Amino acid sequence: MRRATITGWGKCLPPAVLTNADLERVMDTTDDWITSRSGIKERRISHVEASDLATVAAKRALAAAGLEPDAIQLLLVCTCSPDRLIPSAASFVHAKLGVVNAAAMDLNAACTGFIYGLSLAGAMISSGTIDRAVVVGVEKLSAFMNFEERSTAVLFGDGAGAVVLEPAEGDDGILAVDLGTDGNLAELLTVTHTGTEYGRSYPYEEPAILMEGREVFRNAVVQMGASASNVVAESGLELDDVDILIPHQANVRIIDATAKRMKLPPEKVYINIASYGNTSAATIPIALTEALEDGRIRPGANVVMVAFGGGLTWGAAALRWGSRIEPVAVSDAALAPTDMTALEILEARPRRTEP
Ligand code: COA
Repeated sequence: MRRATITGWGKCLPPAVLTNADLERVMDTTDDWITSRSGIKERRISHVEASDLATVAAKRALAAAGLEPDAIQLLLVCTCSPDRLIPSAASFVHAKLGVVNAAAMDLNAACTGFIYGLSLAGAMISSGTIDRAVVVGVEKLSAFMNFEERSTAVLFGDGAGAVVLEPAEGDDGILAVDLGTDGNLAELLTVTHTGTEYGRSYPYEEPAILMEGREVFRNAVVQMGASASNVVAESGLELDDVDILIPHQANVRIIDATAKRMKLPPEKVYINIASYGNTSAATIPIALTEALEDGRIRPGANVVMVAFGGGLTWGAAALRWGSRIEPVAVSDAALAPTDMTALEILEARPRRTEP
């Protein structure tokens, strides 16, 4: 059976930076609390839609793979913050990207979305159904950021990352995947008053990200450690063979605990949470892109990606990198510019007034 592998990668971070000091001005919190509990120093706030972030990341990934948009047969946009419910964010990205020969759909597995998307697209390539796919992880969770909910408002940020998948040559490519869900724990992490529940509350309530932080934390540590270890075993690798772990960036303490369970030294773990916070489905493709840019992934490296999120969902993928660690070409795609600060963007969000 042929394997799928990553041949292109790209990211898109909106320019407006929201620091912990900014948050201190609008809610009852401190830089010290946020940094010590989560490892986050700042995050990005998007002035454009999720599909715009996704499009720029995907254009950069296509250039890195040296492919034209018409070569793509599947576009998966992994997100829980699409521009609208219909059409999918993927449909908007389809048009903006010009992937005229691709089927396009969204995939919502919250923060685990990118691992689910990578698994599905990889399996379609392995089965011979398609040859080339773009998988994007993108979020604009600032749309649901509620200053009244300080325990979650400080954690999330906006951004996108994308990869191109093609059939592997030689023995590189996706070696194994491990996916799981526990729907009984669904209410532990939720965005309220969205979907078909939107507007049904009386008095009207704004959407908000609600989380039982400690329970989510406990489950995240257990499931991320188990899923990453499973995927290493299924790949026929030893833990020592893992060259780099790209974990979901939700909390630096969760990452440290996962690495400890896998007995991985800190230099084998990629962490960028301080700069972007939790960008949900986008954290892994952003981190993967930065790990390549930083020279942390070498030809032939054994890469393990592991995520955990709302659902509750979790998943991991093990991949042997190919010989090319440089992009074939660099795209000049960019977001429309903005002069607005992150707080100005947040304060300008439309709000419904009663009734
Ligand atoms: N600033 C200051 N204080 C805050 C705060 C904030 N932004 N948010 C909460 N607090 C307070 C709480 O009110 C509580 O006060 P109390 O003890 O007087 O009641 C106190 O801080 C401790 O809160 P707690 O929730 O117990 O902290 P914690 O150590 O569990 O850390 C999280 C909170 C959210 C950082 C942590 O639980 C976590 O990371 N959970 C998992 C997050 C995650 O992975 N989410 C996404 C999964 S993809």
